[in-house]
Amino acid sequence: MTDRDSVPEADTSPAPANPVVAVLGAGKIGEALMSGLLHSGYRPEELLFTERHPERAAELTERLAARHVELDEAAATADVLVVAVKPQDIDPLLERLAGLIDGRTLLVSLCAGLPTALFERRLGGACPVVRVMPNTPMVIGEAMCAISPGSHATDAHVKLVEQLLSSVGEVVSIPEEKQDAVTALSGSGPAYVFFLVEAMIDAGILLGLPRNVAEKLIIQSTYGATKMLAETGEHPVTLREAVTSPGGTTINAIRELENHGVRAAFLSAIEAARDRSVELGKAHEDS
Ligand SMILES: NC(=O)c1ccc[n+]([C@@H]2O[C@H](COP(=O)([O-])OP(=O)(O)OC[C@H]3O[C@@H](n4cnc5c(N)ncnc54)[C@H](OP(=O)(O)O)[C@@H]3O)[C@@H](O)[C@H]2O)c1
Repeated sequence: MTDRDSVPEADTSPAPANPVVAVLGAGKIGEALMSGLLHSGYRPEELLFTERHPERAAELTERLAARHVELDEAAATADVLVVAVKPQDIDPLLERLAGLIDGRTLLVSLCAGLPTALFERRLGGACPVVRVMPNTPMVIGEAMCAISPGSHATDAHVKLVEQLLSSVGEVVSIPEEKQDAVTALSGSGPAYVFFLVEAMIDAGILLGLPRNVAEKLIIQSTYGATKMLAETGEHPVTLREAVTSPGGTTINAIRELENHGVRAAFLSAIEAARDRSVELGKAHEDS
């Protein structure tokens, strides 16, 4: 056998087909998911979307090359339907979907606060449903998604959803009763960080720094600190202690944060967000 004979032949067979995904409601989160799937190797013909504004549909078709379809075509063609409309728009959508799909189509809901039981009840049959709580960093491929299967979703469905969502960030599986806590923590989480950044930039202005300089200092510091947490795996306390020297500047700032009850404020704020999520979910309990 010559060397030439031992060189493996290039694999020219086409990549295996992905399950066809249709995103229902291609707004911010829907578009972010489509972009992530395309970046991860999805082919445009494997990706459909519905959208009620023709100009927006045309813009997305041009940008992503995904195919804009009507709901009945999405329901007939897709293996996975991803519901990405606002919770207040869910009723008319489910009314139209009922009767269009059967137990073979997996329904993935990104809608905050809507229980899997709502979809199961409204769509009838044994519709497999997986509920997802995403967050806005999905638009840059850095989402945190928490997923919970409904009563007809199998391990294979959960695995498939994990695979799809890993194209736009990290994924954890949690029991559905914890979704209100997740909504309060990671769903709203980016807003708390933006709030903190805004407050620290204001502090820079108070200390006489130009706004653009204060913004650069704080955004890079927040980015660097978060990356350090993710990359070192160190506990936040360890990393904070490393910049808190005896008699130094940081400990003076920490004393003020504790005096103003900032830690307790976070605990109460996130608990209040959880309570509101429970309240919003109850509104759909009997519908
Ligand atoms: N953004 C977040 O921070 C976040 C975080 C976690 C979860 N979520 C969840 O993600 C979902 C989407 O949020 P979003 O921020 O992406 O909202 P969005 O930008 O308003 O996107 C929703 C899109 O769906 C369209 N739509 C509504 N009903 C439709 C229908 N029947 N058929 C086709 N399209 C329809 C809307 O059109 P119109 O413009 O005409 O309304 C809009 O373009 C929500 O359920 C939300 O709870 C969002």
